This record gives sequence, structure tokens and C-alpha cells, in this order.
Amino acid sequence: MHDFDILIIGSGAAGLSLALKTASFAKVAVLSKGTLSQGATFWAQGGIAAVLDENDSIDAHIEDTLDSGAGLCNVGMVRHIVEHSQEAIQWLVEQGVPFTVLTPEEAGTGPASQPLDRNNLKPLHLTQEGGHSHRRIIHATDATGRAVFETLRDRALQTEGITLFENRLAVDVITADKLGLPGRDCVGAYVYDPAQEKVELIRARFVILASGGASKAYLYTTNPDSATGDGIAMAWRAGCRVANMEFNQFHPTCLYHPHARSFLITEALRGEGATLELPDGTRFMPAFDSRGELAPRDIVARAIDHEMKRLGCDCVYLNITHKPAAFIKEHFPTIYSRCLEYGIDITCDRIPVVPAAHYTCGGVVVDKLGRTDIPNLYAIGETSSTGLHGANRMASNSLLECFVLAFGAAEDIKSRFDEVDALSVDIPAWDESRVTRSQEEVVVAHNWDELRRVMWDYVGIVRSDNRLQKAKIRIDLLEQEIAYHYRHYIISRDLLELRNLVMVARLIVDSALLRKESRGLHFTLDYPGLLPQPVDTILTP
Ligand code: FAD
Ligand code: SIN
Repeated sequence: MHDFDILIIGSGAAGLSLALKTASFAKVAVLSKGTLSQGATFWAQGGIAAVLDENDSIDAHIEDTLDSGAGLCNVGMVRHIVEHSQEAIQWLVEQGVPFTVLTPEEAGTGPASQPLDRNNLKPLHLTQEGGHSHRRIIHATDATGRAVFETLRDRALQTEGITLFENRLAVDVITADKLGLPGRDCVGAYVYDPAQEKVELIRARFVILASGGASKAYLYTTNPDSATGDGIAMAWRAGCRVANMEFNQFHPTCLYHPHARSFLITEALRGEGATLELPDGTRFMPAFDSRGELAPRDIVARAIDHEMKRLGCDCVYLNITHKPAAFIKEHFPTIYSRCLEYGIDITCDRIPVVPAAHYTCGGVVVDKLGRTDIPNLYAIGETSSTGLHGANRMASNSLLECFVLAFGAAEDIKSRFDEVDALSVDIPAWDESRVTRSQEEVVVAHNWDELRRVMWDYVGIVRSDNRLQKAKIRIDLLEQEIAYHYRHYIISRDLLELRNLVMVARLIVDSALLRKESRGLHFTLDYPGLLPQPVDTILTP
């Protein structure tokens, strides 16, 4: 057993920020179920939305977010997060994130030569993405997530008070009621160590779910393997409400190539003028939305899906060849070199693209400080549902939310630090006396594949009650088989993730069946219109 003041489950933008904000007053553990870089943060390309330009305004950022969210955003939460956007960028600059700055030509008379510090963000280059009425995306070329992750990770490695654990998978959080004690306070978590094939106990005064989203529920995704909704499933099992799980965001432009696994082509390409074209070269987005390629993602992904189905083609094309080659190589070096590996020179070739599952807009219900329904259990980052994204997240608002929620949770933990003491609670060790080694691991592999295909085929960009019901029947069966496997056999990472993913898939389908309208990312053939009153889908365990 280990004791920590704060146990953070997840080493992405949300988890590392919280660790750095709390290490001065607490003993902090950060877990990653794989290597530290395993989460979505490492792969983020476009950037972080923040109001820095003098022609931009907090109100404009709020209005764009509300518009993308299709009537379902929590206005107070949107204001709170947007108002803290500048503070988030200032903090990241202070940590040393190497954001892209204006070239001397772009800067005109010299801001580029001014040093970048937290009080002078003028030299930062701002790019543009869908749904944004202004240039307000701060970025590190086209590999923003990697720059943020590596900077925060290096800081955390140098910070006394933070212990980083790789290859530790949280199985479940532990609450007082599950131990037969009064109250529901969270007091720690059971954590699986695959190398030892053992489950350890970590006792903590505060537990934070910062474990990312659940886009691996779908066969095709831009997400890394870690995105199996573990935090959402753990919170649900512990008794927390989850909200708006039907809103799965499909990114319009994932590279379509037999050997490219989950490679995103950033929306910032469209921000810099790239057009979407049919195989014959026709530009089609203006027929769907007056904002063309820069319409919010739900609209662009649905338009692509519609055109692919209409023409029976395997992909559409993104074309940025009108831009000078030097500009493309300077602003999009990662995409340029990755596409070149597949024989696509984006300075002169069109890029074949398809939509893929990208972001989980719903999640664990939390307030501004990341507090869940369970005392001392917090959820921040993609795992949470704050109300910022409503029915469709606007590009680059996700990383912003990770930082602002981490800052709020850190303040709350600090203010309550002395009143919470879970470290004297007696927690039993993990009991594996009744399980044996499975001779049926094929069940796990098969069910992984089946679940993700069912979700892709029946719970995708365009839905219907009939397809959702078909999915529900299959998911119920899969859930039973997986529960049996979990009860009877020694656990593995694959089994634990599958157990979480099938639970999240059920929450998605149940939420989708409850929404009798088409709003934002949830589009159903049976209810194509909007209901007059936007209502959140909140599920209670
Ligand atoms: P993650 O970064 O996903 O980290 C999750 C962490 O939790 C990992 O360390 C993982 O190992 C750990 N974990 C999970 N389950 C367990 C468990 N059971 N036990 C222990 N550890 C666990 N958003 C933007 O705002 N701007 C962008 O430009 C942008 N680009 C994107 C590009 C791509 C390709 C993708 C996939 C997403 C992009 N997003 C972007 C979304 C954004 O990157 C994510 O929403 C954000 O990084 C999530 O951060 P997080 O800290 O919540 O989780
Ligand atoms: C992208 O770069 O297109 C992804 C941005 C995001 O998901 O916010």
C-alpha cells in the first residue's frame, strides 16, 4: 500500500497541470497506464484557444463556443473558462512551452524580437480553426500537444513532491460506502501493475480522474490506445452522474491511407485556407454552410459523410497546394513529413481524408472546480463534463479546459486540505482468491473488435432508433460476457479497458436513445429537427 495526499489518474495536460499546481503543499502521485506520453495530449496538433488579439474579445470567444455547442453549453462555465484563457497561456509560457512566435515579416516592426514572457504575449502567432470568428489559436507549429506535454512532464520530473508512475492502471476508485463506512468520501484507488500482475492499493486524501476520453469505443479514431473511458466508467461505478454522452465528436479530417493508423490532419490547415474537395476536384462545403470549410466540426463531418455515401467514394480530399511550399513546411512540419512517408507531398498533392472519432464531449458531471458528486473525487480534462462544449466542442477549447479546470481543482484542494484525512482509513487489499487464469483470452480480443465495429456501424455520425436499438442488444450481451470474464479470471490491461469501454458504450447508446432530436453531434434520421428547449442528458447510476 502507498499513501499520498493527492492521487492523479492520468498524465496528460489535465493531470500534469494539477500536479504542478499542488506539489508545493502536497505529496502527489500521477499514474499513467502506459508510458507517460500515452494520452491524447501528446498528439494534439492545432493548439489552445485564448483571447490575446486586441481585435478579439472574451464575448466573441464565448459567442463562438455557444454557437458551436448548439444551444447546450453552460453559459456560466463557458465564461469562466474563456475568462481564464489568458492566464492559462501565461502559465504555460512560464513553464517554458515553446509556442510559435511571429516571424519578423509577420510581426512588422519587431514584436518577434521581443522576448516572450508571461506579461508580453504579443509575439505569439495566432492561427485559425473551425467555428472561431477570430484568429485565436496559440500553437507550437502543428505539434502543440507534444510541446505542452514534454514541457509539463519535464517540470514534473524536476519537482519534489511529485511521483510519476508509468504502467499503472487504476481499476476502481474506493469510496467509504463500499467499505461499509459512513459517508461516500473517496479514499483511494486499486491500481493494477501489469509487470507484476498484481493489484496495489493507493490511499489518498483526494483522487483526481484525469484519464482522458473514450473515442476508442469506435473502430476508426484519431485517438491513442489509452482513450478507453476508464475515468468515466470508474466514476459511474462509484456513483457519479454522467452527462451528454451521446455527443461523440468526429473529426472531419483523419488521413486516409492503409498504413496510417489514426493520423490527424489538423483543422488549422483549413484555417490557413485548405479546401475540401470531392474526388473530381469539386469544392463542396459552401453548399452545406456559408462558413465553408471553417464551419463547426459536426457540420463538416456530416457533410463529408453525406458526400462519401452519395458518391460511394472511400474518402474526400483536403487541398492546401495553393499556399507556398515554404509556408506549408514551416507551419505544418509534422503533417508534411508524415504524409511524405506515405508518398503524399502536401505542397503539391491533395490529402485523402475521412472523418474519425475524436473527442468525448460528455463525461463525469463536475462543477467549475472539477468536483464530482463524490466528496474528494474530482474529474478534470476530457473525462469530465463541465458544460463548456455543449452538443459540439469548438476546436482547441479542450486543452484550454484541461488547464482552467486543473487550476480550479488545485485551489479547491488547497482550501480544503486540512479538513480531509483519508489516510487513517483501513482498506482491505485486493482479493483475487476466487479467480483463475483464463483459457479463453480469445473472448477479450473478439469482444474488443465487435464492440468497436458495432459502435462505428450503428452509433456513428448518422443515427436512427433502429440502429441504436441494434447496438443496445449487442452491447448488453457483450457486457454480460465481459462481466463474467472479470469475475472469474485473472485480470489483464485488455480486460480492464474492455470492461470500461463497454460500460461507456452503453452510456453513449442510452443517452442517444433518450435524445429525441438532432442537435450538434447527435444526428438521428428519426428526429431530424431541434426541440425548442435544449436539455442536457444526465444519467444517474
Ligand atoms: P489525456 O491527454 O488523454 O491523458 C489521459 C491520461 O490518463 C494518460 O496518461 C493515460 O495513460 C491515463 N489513463 C487513462 N486511463 C487510466 C487508468 N485507468 N489508469 C491510469 N492511467 C490512466 N484539443 C485541443 O484543445 N487542441 C488541439 O489541437 C487538439 N488536437 C487533438 C489532436 C488529436 C490527434 C487528438 C486525439 C486530440 C486532440 N485534442 C485537441 C483533444 C485534446 O488533445 C484532449 O482532449 C486532451 O489532450 C485531453 O487531455 P487529458 O489530460 O484530459 O487526457
Ligand atoms: C486539430 O488540430 O484539428 C484538432 C484540434 C482540436 O481537436 O481541438
